[in-house]
Amino acid sequence: MTTKNSTTRTNSLNRNDRKILIILSHPDLENSIANKTIIEHIKKAIPESQLEVRHLDSLYPDYKIDIEAEQAALLKADFLIFQHPLYWYYTPSILKKYFDDVMTWGFAYGTGGDKLKGKHFLQSITLGGSKESFTPLGYNRFSIEDILKPMQQSIYHIQMIYNQPLYSYRNAYVPEIYNSMSEVKENAMAHAEKLIEKIQEFSKGNKEKVGTFIHKWFSHFDRLDENGYFIQYLHKDIEFTFPGYGNMKGHTEFNAWYYAIKEKLEVPIKHEVKNIIIEEIERNRFDIHFQVHLQAKEKESQKEINVTETENWKLIWDESSDRPIIEKYVVSA
Ligand SMILES: Cc1cc2nc3c(=O)[nH]c(=O)nc-3n(C[C@H](O)[C@H](O)[C@H](O)COP(=O)(O)O)c2cc1C
Repeated sequence: MTTKNSTTRTNSLNRNDRKILIILSHPDLENSIANKTIIEHIKKAIPESQLEVRHLDSLYPDYKIDIEAEQAALLKADFLIFQHPLYWYYTPSILKKYFDDVMTWGFAYGTGGDKLKGKHFLQSITLGGSKESFTPLGYNRFSIEDILKPMQQSIYHIQMIYNQPLYSYRNAYVPEIYNSMSEVKENAMAHAEKLIEKIQEFSKGNKEKVGTFIHKWFSHFDRLDENGYFIQYLHKDIEFTFPGYGNMKGHTEFNAWYYAIKEKLEVPIKHEVKNIIIEEIERNRFDIHFQVHLQAKEKESQKEINVTETENWKLIWDESSDRPIIEKYVVSA
């Protein structure tokens, strides 16, 4: 069952080339149950060409981190994952050292320090405690989200995109005291499955979201919604062309055009979008081509409009706000 799922995933991941870097930190991986199970499962499910796993404790048993090598690995990655057990409400010590040594001024922050900007980050953690223990009346008092805030802020500071952390409770195995071996393994498998899903979702990119957005955009046009709806998705220097209106630029000209359309046409309008081709020319940059069948009625003359127009857009998917920005919008008859 697992193998079958993994094969399906592998095929879908092969479609593109987003690099995943897992920084694994565990001082005794040989005797680990949770983190070892998770990492083995991930390695089976994700193609080698897409994944790099760096186990800090094996690479640097003397704690002397090769900063250049680590920074090079970060530069290649699109998605950075820290995989580790929770130790004293933070990371194992070598991962803290990694952060201190590798996230340097001029690389991760400070002047010129934007090398990680826009890359995704996820902390994937196994916890010993139960869910109830991480509540105000439990012995751990604070929620995991509270405990992870220093890491969250560090990630914001280095301008990476913070994904909600992935964590699982009750991973400690102490024979006859805490949990059974099979419970911890099962738990770890479930954790790995969720992590694979996250990676898969990330690898798919934003193409599907672009398609959904186009349909939503025209449903707002159908009811001639407030101009603010459209403006929020238009680049401030948007270039646009509409039949009969020529070439225009920027929000002010868009507003003027839209005002004229609102004056002219009766609501509702009907836009039927057909033959959409979405090409991702580089990461998060899309060239989009499609036809729109437009049916409308002019207010004053009551003249029916029934035309098919061709649209060519250039659109960027902004990952930090997870929304589209249209840069160019050309409509021809
Ligand atoms: C030094 C140390 C510190 C730990 N601190 C915590 C902690 O603060 N909170 C917690 O829930 N579990 C804590 N644990 C339990 C581990 O998180 C748990 O055993 C681990 O996630 C199991 O993963 P593994 O099988 O890969 O070792 C700690 C364990 C050790 C050895």
